[in-house]
Amino acid sequence: MYLHWLMFALASVGWVSDAKNCNDTENAAAYDALFEHLGLDKNDNQKRPLYYGDATHVFVELYVTSIIDVNEKAQSLTIQVKMITAWINIKMDWNSHEFCGMNTFSARKDMVWTPDIVIAESIKTDFGTKESPYVQFYSYAFTVLSDILVLTTACKMDLHKFPFDIHSCNLTLQSSAYSIEELKVLTFADSEWVTHESKQTFQAQGEWELLSINMVKSNISVGYEWDMKDQLIYQITIKRRPLLYVINIILPVFFFLVLDVMSFFIDASGTDKLSFKVTLLLSISVLLLILNDTLPSTADKIPLIGIYCSVIFSLIGFSILETILVNFLMARGAENRSAASIETTTADAIRSLQRPQGSVRDQNEEQSCTLDLLKQILTEYLAGTQQNQQEKASLCWTSVSRMTDVTFLVLYIITIIVFLSVLGKDWFP
Ligand SMILES: *[C@@H]1O[C@H](CO)[C@@H](O)[C@H](O)[C@H]1NC(C)=O
Repeated sequence: MYLHWLMFALASVGWVSDAKNCNDTENAAAYDALFEHLGLDKNDNQKRPLYYGDATHVFVELYVTSIIDVNEKAQSLTIQVKMITAWINIKMDWNSHEFCGMNTFSARKDMVWTPDIVIAESIKTDFGTKESPYVQFYSYAFTVLSDILVLTTACKMDLHKFPFDIHSCNLTLQSSAYSIEELKVLTFADSEWVTHESKQTFQAQGEWELLSINMVKSNISVGYEWDMKDQLIYQITIKRRPLLYVINIILPVFFFLVLDVMSFFIDASGTDKLSFKVTLLLSISVLLLILNDTLPSTADKIPLIGIYCSVIFSLIGFSILETILVNFLMARGAENRSAASIETTTADAIRSLQRPQGSVRDQNEEQSCTLDLLKQILTEYLAGTQQNQQEKASLCWTSVSRMTDVTFLVLYIITIIVFLSVLGKDWFP
């Protein structure tokens, strides 16, 4: 990539153009000569190559080629990376036209010294397909090692904003044995280039999207102060594609809430409304079960989606309680109404019974008539007041229940709007 391109450019500028044409025998001879020139037959190559007496300069380039798995519960990230490691060995340069224009040369890895670069956060490192057994030498003293690795690294993930979360995971490259005076970890490429190249070669289009790769130089002292290690930190920023969770959880739960609000317009006298609301509550609990599988149990901050679901769950719970209350009030009203109508019929019956009684009695007709009238008025008055009271009570119950319903609906809608706007502000800042 960048490194390869750089080397190719260097190679094409210098020696390739005036390389002499060799025949097969000359080529074979040049190959052997180069092998000897590089000293690959000697053990001398096992020594750490000094860079003009200074620390060995190791250049690392790392490209993320796919994100295999992000495990929120284990807080780990599994990615496939292409890692190119190059180092300078000033003793290993050659003039290519002395060797039939050969610019590169390959040899087995164990014939030369290789840097012990490790990734500090790694839990497990595998070779993607197969460990490359070879290193490549370039005529201007570079040795290159190129591998495809599958890394599982520890990465602290904050799921507060799930599923609209962005995570940043560090890959710290450092030598496990050499101190900063002996080995320096450097890079040729800049962050933009690495991000661009990684996106170009990105193979999977899964749940995660690669946002950027940043590089930071750092050093760390392990144990003793003098034991400093040079570090190159790759910060990989990834973003979840939230569509699945929006469709599967956020929208249905919101829709249930809307249904619950609309259910206030169902006739409150029946039990339909109550069973409808309980069904909504059960549907949300099914979605909560799905959510439970995704989110880790150990989170510093409760994920907002959890707050979203449980608050809506509780809101629907409260609205069920309110429906029960209104049902109770309605039932009281209905009871009073039926009692009132019973009273009316009894009063009517008494009156119809009393009239013939009144007319049968014929002693002192005027007196009895007046008395009858008085009695009748009294009965009617008494019955009337009773009926009025009953009717009034019944009306009272009904209006109280209506009032409760309307007040609750208004408060309910206000609560929902306030809750959703506060949550939204935190969720999508
Ligand atoms: C990643 O590295 C950067 C740069 O050194 C550092 O500021 C940050 O805290 C690191 N993040 C983690 C999670 O270790």
